[in-house]
Amino acid sequence: MDSEKKITVRDLWRMKQSGEKIVTVTAYDAIFARIADEAGMHLLLVGDSAGNTVLGYKNTIPVTLEQSLMLTAAVCRGVKRAMVIGDMPFMSYQISEAEAVRNAGRYLKECGADGVKLEGGRSVYPLIRRMVDSGIPVFAHVGLLPQSVLKDGGYRIHGKSDAEAEAIMEDALAVQEAGAFAVVLEGVPSSLSEKITAKLTIPTIGIGGGAGCDGQIQVITDILGLGGAFLPRHAKRFATLADTATAALRQYADEVRAGTFPGAENCTK
Ligand code: KIV
Repeated sequence: MDSEKKITVRDLWRMKQSGEKIVTVTAYDAIFARIADEAGMHLLLVGDSAGNTVLGYKNTIPVTLEQSLMLTAAVCRGVKRAMVIGDMPFMSYQISEAEAVRNAGRYLKECGADGVKLEGGRSVYPLIRRMVDSGIPVFAHVGLLPQSVLKDGGYRIHGKSDAEAEAIMEDALAVQEAGAFAVVLEGVPSSLSEKITAKLTIPTIGIGGGAGCDGQIQVITDILGLGGAFLPRHAKRFATLADTATAALRQYADEVRAGTFPGAENCTK
């Protein structure tokens, strides 16, 4: 793949066919978007996980469309190559199809995003169809749906029983049929995501779905060690940036208190 060229849905489809893994992560601002882009991510999702990670809420439910648009625009400004997908927040696509399509269009028109993500399977089939027919690339999301956490009574693995596994398979087939360019499989058993991945022609991107998916997505604050003490089982810490930042800020404070910062080299006479 040309290392300078903007990645498109066609590249992701080619990667599914050739078996090259698709690597994606969330991003919420221009700084980490640039870092993730330079590290070679194929796609950045401006997840509504921003609710937990950067906005300080306890789940994704309070995130507003305006907050999500602002973060998505910032991520787009930081990126040269990776696709950027805006994650439509709770109640920005559930009320009516017309409102949902209008809101989805704002990610493309106002932020410069390459598409939108929304949660749901068969229930959002007509909506995905309508968005795709309008020219909006849609990244689907089935399995554990964080926007339904209140209805479901918490976070848990979905698809352990035969009936649930069958329902998730049908959801995945439905979003593909509706025209989604790829689908997130969240919190499902590895054996199920392997079956779905084998059956679908669009890429499957797993988070807590095992290694058999066509690609993986992780929440950037989890994998960089910026997310506090709790680490979900599906994640791994590849760095401890919060510790590094705390140490740097402590040293800054110490030097200010000691009068050694700013030094002569930081000042104009
Ligand atoms: O909001 C988010 O970050 C997501 C990913 C976990 C897929 O939806």
